[in-house]
Amino acid sequence: LIESNRLTLIKLRSHLLACLRVVQREGKTVGLIPTMGALHQGHLSLVKRSLSENDLTVCTIFINPAQFNDPRDLQRYPRTLGKDLGLLTREGCQLVFAPAEQEVYLDETDYSFELGESGEVMEAAHRPGHFKGVVNVVKRFFDLIQPSKAYFGQKDFQQCAIIKKMCLHYQIPVQLEFCPTKRESDGLAMSSRNILLSPEERAKAPLIFKALTEAARNSSSLDPAGIKAQLEKTISASPGFSLDYFEIVDADSLQPVNSWDDAQNIVACIAVQLGKVRLIDNMILRSSA
Ligand code: PAF
Repeated sequence: LIESNRLTLIKLRSHLLACLRVVQREGKTVGLIPTMGALHQGHLSLVKRSLSENDLTVCTIFINPAQFNDPRDLQRYPRTLGKDLGLLTREGCQLVFAPAEQEVYLDETDYSFELGESGEVMEAAHRPGHFKGVVNVVKRFFDLIQPSKAYFGQKDFQQCAIIKKMCLHYQIPVQLEFCPTKRESDGLAMSSRNILLSPEERAKAPLIFKALTEAARNSSSLDPAGIKAQLEKTISASPGFSLDYFEIVDADSLQPVNSWDDAQNIVACIAVQLGKVRLIDNMILRSSA
């Protein structure tokens, strides 16, 4: 059913299940990379890693309406399936599942659960319902594909934390791999949304990484409040940008810290609006590892 040297595109869950049954019978390991398409080198680095760690690599391409709180954002989201398939073929990915909505949402079961404080801050506060949508789709893909490992980019730091919580909540036996953010040569975090930036906005966008780098540099002399004030000043002085939030949080609980002694692992998370495009990024400021 699946040939290891070419890409198989599957759109129906019945076909996917038939393929996976054979794979599972043969005792093969499956690596999953869930995506919404518009693939870039960040996604491809996850595919590469999965290929080196699993017998079969499955990439899902599904723009999940349930996680978009703004219908215009959903409408604008880039759709580049043909190009994505070319990139995945070149990378050596074996299977792509690109389903229609009714193939994913067979029933109306709501898998969202009480996320606690990490489900109230940052992205959750600014995009109501977003993580409910993410949990519902990732849970469905995990149930359907039953991967041995699943790969996510750390650019979506809060998403990684929530998916980790979901796996604990539902006791899903998958090994989660959170992989470093891939950046353009000017520091801009790779994101599917970057192609929506106008040339002028694209030229301005590396400011986000510069501001985070400055925050990291100054975190030896300033406290979190000082860093926040400085970054807020930098962004507000930059035409075209509007700051959604900048938070310095405990990397495990995602709760804001007041002092560097409040947690062992501390991350700075930012979301900005640049023109019509919303961009997020983060940087680890303290790590016990
Ligand atoms: O990170 C994304 O692209 C999406 O949130 C995900 C994990 C594919 C779920 O739709």
